[in-house]
Formats: sequence, C-alpha cells, structure tokens
Amino acid sequence: MTRHKPGFLPIVATVVWLAAVWLAAVPHVAQASGIKLSQVCPAGFELVQGQCKLRSLYQMYPSLEDAGVGGLKTGLPAYRDGFSPQQIDLGRYLFFDPVLSGDGSVSCASCHQPDRGFADGRGRSVGASGHPVRRSAPSLWNVAFQQRLFWDARAGSLEEQMLGPLYDEHEMATSPEQLLAALNGIPQYRELFRQAWPADYQSADANIRLDHVYQAIAAFQTSLISLNSRYDHYAHGYADALTEPEKEGLNVFRSFVARCAECHTPPLFTNQQIAVIGTPEPEGMPFDPGASEPLGEPTLRGGFKVPSLRNIELTAPYMHSGRFATLREAAAFYTGGRGHAVPEGEDLKIHWHIWEPGLTDAELDRLVDFLATLTDESFKPREPTELPSGMRPVHNGGAREGAVPQDGALTHE
Ligand code: HEC
Ligand code: HEC
Repeated sequence: MTRHKPGFLPIVATVVWLAAVWLAAVPHVAQASGIKLSQVCPAGFELVQGQCKLRSLYQMYPSLEDAGVGGLKTGLPAYRDGFSPQQIDLGRYLFFDPVLSGDGSVSCASCHQPDRGFADGRGRSVGASGHPVRRSAPSLWNVAFQQRLFWDARAGSLEEQMLGPLYDEHEMATSPEQLLAALNGIPQYRELFRQAWPADYQSADANIRLDHVYQAIAAFQTSLISLNSRYDHYAHGYADALTEPEKEGLNVFRSFVARCAECHTPPLFTNQQIAVIGTPEPEGMPFDPGASEPLGEPTLRGGFKVPSLRNIELTAPYMHSGRFATLREAAAFYTGGRGHAVPEGEDLKIHWHIWEPGLTDAELDRLVDFLATLTDESFKPREPTELPSGMRPVHNGGAREGAVPQDGALTHE
C-alpha cells in the first residue's frame, strides 16, 4: 500500500503526460512481431521507477477517522498498486483468455464482463459446467481497495480469491497442472511472461510460474479504478455536478434515518465490514449462511460483506443472491422493516443500523437517483482484440451458446 502526500501533479496533467508517453511507444508496438506488452501504466496511474502508482484527488484528503461518516472529502482506504505496466497488461490478456479454463469455454470475463460493470447480469453466475453457481458475481471495479474478497469474505487476497473460480468444477474447472501445461504450450505466453518478469525468464526454456499467473491477474484487477463519477466531482467541490433530486438523494443516503452511509461509507461506499441485514433468497433457494461458516462466527449467520455501491447502476440484479432486479427494489428492502425477510426458524443477529426508517416512495426514488451518480467507467480497460492463445475472449455466460440462457438477469434455476 502506498500513501501519497498532497502536492502531486493534477490528474489531468498526468493523463496528458501518459497519453504522450503512450504515443511515443506506439511505433515500438507496431514493429514487434506478435504481442508486445504495454510499457505505460493504465489511466489513473503514474509510472514511478517501473511501478504504476495510483493517482487520485482523494489522496489529498485525510483519512476517514478525521472526517466522520458520510463526509465528502474523506481519504481512501488502503489499496494495492505498484505493479509494472507489463504485468498489468499481461493480466489483461489472461483475464479475457478462455485458455485458462479446463475446456476452453470460460474466461474470467465470462462472469465479470466489462460492459456489465464487471459483473454478468445474472442472479447466479454460470460457468464451465453449465450449472448456476451459489451466488451472484460481484463487480470488480475498485477491487484494489477490498481487504477481504467474496460475499462471505472468505479470501484475504486477490491471489487467494482466484483459486476459487480457476479450480471450481462449476466455474473454470481447470487444475494447476492443466493451467501451466496450457500456458507453457503457447510460445506467445512464454514470451509475454518474459516481458513481464525479464529476470525470471532469462533462459529460453524457463517455464511459466503459477505465482506469476496469479500476480498478473491480480495486477490487472487492481487497475480497475472508478473514482471519477459525478458524485466525485461533487465531492471535490463542483456543486453543480449533481442535480437537485440527486442531492436530495445523497442527503437521504447520509441521513440518520436511512443510515446507508454508516455501512456504505464514502468514498468507496463500503466500510468493508460484514453485516447481517437479512436479505431474502430467491424463491426455492436454501438460506445462505454467508460469513458465519468461513469465519467460524455463529453471530455472523446470514452476514455478507458490505458491497461497494460504485457503478451499482450497471450490475443488476442485486445482493449476494441477485434477488432484487432493480435498484428501487434493493433500496425498498431497507424500509420493509427490520428482519422482515428472514425465514421462519432463523434467529439472525440483524445489524443495529437496520431499522424502520419509514422511507417514502419519493425518498426511495431520490436514493435511486443518487446511486446512479456513482457510475464512472472512464478508466475501462480495452479488451484485447487478439489473445495469445488465438482463442476468442468470452462473454455472456461462456461459449456454450444455446446451453445457457442468455437473458439470465433473473435466472435462478
Ligand atoms: C462462473 C462465473 C465466474 C467466473 C468464470 C469467475 N468468477 Fe469471479 N466471481 C463469481 C462469483 C459468483 C463470485 C462471488 C462468489 C461468492 O462470493 O461466493 C465471484 C467473486 C469474485 C471476486 C470477489 C470480489 C469481491 O468484491 O469480493 C473476484 C476478485 C473475482 N471473482 C475475480 C475473478 C477472476 C480473476 C476470475 C478468473 C480467474 C473469475 N473471477 C472468474 C463468478 C465468476
Ligand atoms: C448495516 C449495514 C447496511 C446498511 C445500513 C445499509 N446497507 Fe446496503 N448492503 C449491506 C449489505 C451487507 C449488503 C449485501 C447483502 C446481501 O447480499 O444479502 C448490502 C447491499 C446493498 C445493495 C446491493 C449491492 C449489490 O452489489 O448487489 C444496495 C443497492 C444497497 N445495499 C443499498 C443500500 C441503501 C440505499 C441503504 C440505505 C437505505 C443501505 N444499503 C443501507 C449493508 C448495509
């Protein structure tokens, strides 16, 4: 994690400068045969001694402790950066490449689609087996800030997290041996790993290492930064960035009645804690015990990690279960009464901030107006047009067209 003191170049200057460096690098790309990894950092990062360092206006503000809950100018939580441009770019290829899956049908991008806020539009994701998995795919925007991963917080790092999808029979269904064999069998990938870690791949027969595969994918994911929404312009002092109804929505969101900001705390719109709020499962689905199992903490039964609400407009349906089709439904859940959706026989320790706010229809509408101001895809990465494996990047629930419903928004088979 890096903390930067105030006084860095304004972000605009950095972007202009990055563009200049990028242009300078282009002829180089064109000359090389095959794929050449980027030598410049993604937008929002500055290259410092070979490492891409995050640059954001939020780095000028004091930490949350000094600013209170819901303050506009609050600092960022800890985050990961410091990967090289080449490592990030290699991760981008791996993220989109279905060669990572056992049968070549699924990539990370199948369930984390750039055009769907890096989620997949489904109530429950579908992977290599064609069977829906247990939960809904979360957005990957701003995952660099997440201290724990998965809805139930069972993973402590991005590298640990990805072992889940890679080796799960219902997701990418590969094995470490198969994954390494597949990548090592592709000369282009051997060359790209050499570009990303020159010192480790000096000898021509050096094999691709698993820890480098994980690190590259993690590097790419930490580059998915979304901190430049209209809300952010407003937070940085541009009062006209929000309309009156949106400002009203922000005030409801921060109010002691609705209490949304107590858990969905700016600037990330999550306090990263686990909260038991008692959302319902889809019809016919068993109760999801959430974080109590992996954390061995019975009071967290039904508890889930408070999700960030950034780009939330793009990632319907909502909650771990994908139970709510719209933001309006998700917001209305909070005014349905404490514990109203808890199944009979379950005695959940519902969080004390979940109460009976009695929000009016108009207030719910304003909340939805406000949540839509958190959309920012300006740093959306480019999808590779060709992959080192020669395969096609996969979206929309995998390559098994026909086997999988494509309109999966409310598929809870
Ligand atoms: C079959 C669909 C599917 C595929 C393929 C898939 N994911 Fe996911 N991903 C999910 C689902 C569903 C969850 C939530 C699971 C849970 O919380 O129990 C998730 C969770 C995550 C999270 C946690 C985010 C957070 O905020 O907690 C990360 C990070 C992630 N995936 C990255 C990846 C990467 C990297 C790959 C490729 C190696 C990948 N995923 C492949 C469906 C998928
Ligand atoms: C006690 C903490 C807490 C409070 C207060 C709270 N939330 Fe949440 N919120 C959560 C948790 C935990 C989840 C995930 C629950 C689940 O998946 O079952 C969530 C999920 C959501 C989601 C869906 C996110 C997604 O990615 O699917 C939205 C939208 C949301 N909350 C909006 C609100 C609004 C609006 C308010 C105020 C009216 C609010 N929240 C108050 C903890 C809280």
